[in-house]
Amino acid sequence: MTDTTQTPAPTADDKPTFHQRFERNATLLMVSSLLVVSIGGIVEIAPLFWLENTIEEVEGVRPYSPLELAGRDIYIREGCYVCHSQMIRPMRDEVERYGHYSLAAESMYDHPFQWGSKRTGPDLARVGGRYSDEWHVDHLIDPQSVVPESVMPKYAFLADTALDTSMIEATVSTHAFVGVPYTDEMIEAAASDIRVQVDPFGDIDGLLERYPGAQVRNFDGLPALTEMDALVAYLQILGTMVDFSTFEPDASR
Ligand code: HEC
Repeated sequence: MTDTTQTPAPTADDKPTFHQRFERNATLLMVSSLLVVSIGGIVEIAPLFWLENTIEEVEGVRPYSPLELAGRDIYIREGCYVCHSQMIRPMRDEVERYGHYSLAAESMYDHPFQWGSKRTGPDLARVGGRYSDEWHVDHLIDPQSVVPESVMPKYAFLADTALDTSMIEATVSTHAFVGVPYTDEMIEAAASDIRVQVDPFGDIDGLLERYPGAQVRNFDGLPALTEMDALVAYLQILGTMVDFSTFEPDASR
């Protein structure tokens, strides 16, 4: 008696099914798996290229003024981010110590962002307005003179170094190139705006129109425009652009 339940052995002219073709050819299987996985990837990633913005915009956040931007470059050059973060996490201990947790919008014009991950010193995301300019100048010149146990290095040379403003137009237009909404007018005025911000008797109307809320004064108290002026101007604006007495997070996003 013959067993009819057994599948007959394939003969030469039995064609493999569509599925069998993939199972029998390792290269074909790998290439097609890659294709299927990349479709999944594209569906997830591609819309992000067309979405105008994934960050909830918040009133008050504006691009850095040329002087603040120059100070930020000094902050990066001196490696302040090695010891300081700029990102307050929404945990109670952090919020009680540093203030409202950081919003994505607050670093939307930072290229590159300064969130950091190392806190040898405190977080600086909201240090703006916490101390006087004089305190910052004294602290940067000699941190141990105001905080005796501090391990922060001295940056006294910043007060003796004239701020190099020759590249400011190029710096601002580079930031415009990577998406910060600096207008042509802002780029053209950058070289004068950087000087006007340390001169309370100068013509500051244009500067304040371009950069609402920019703080105008001689930050280091010295007659010359120094790197200290730029760095203190930057520190004093940190975390102050959003008015948290009126800010309400949009829970729908
Ligand atoms: C080696 C690590 C280190 C580096 C680098 C460093 N700091 Fe600090 N910083 C500290 C420490 C520690 C403190 C806390 C003690 C003190 O106030 O000096 C501090 C405190 C501060 C404070 C006061 C913050 C507060 O809320 O009390 C400011 C502002 C500051 N640093 C700015 C800077 C800037 C700007 C730079 C770069 C030019 C810089 N730091 C580089 C370690 C560092």
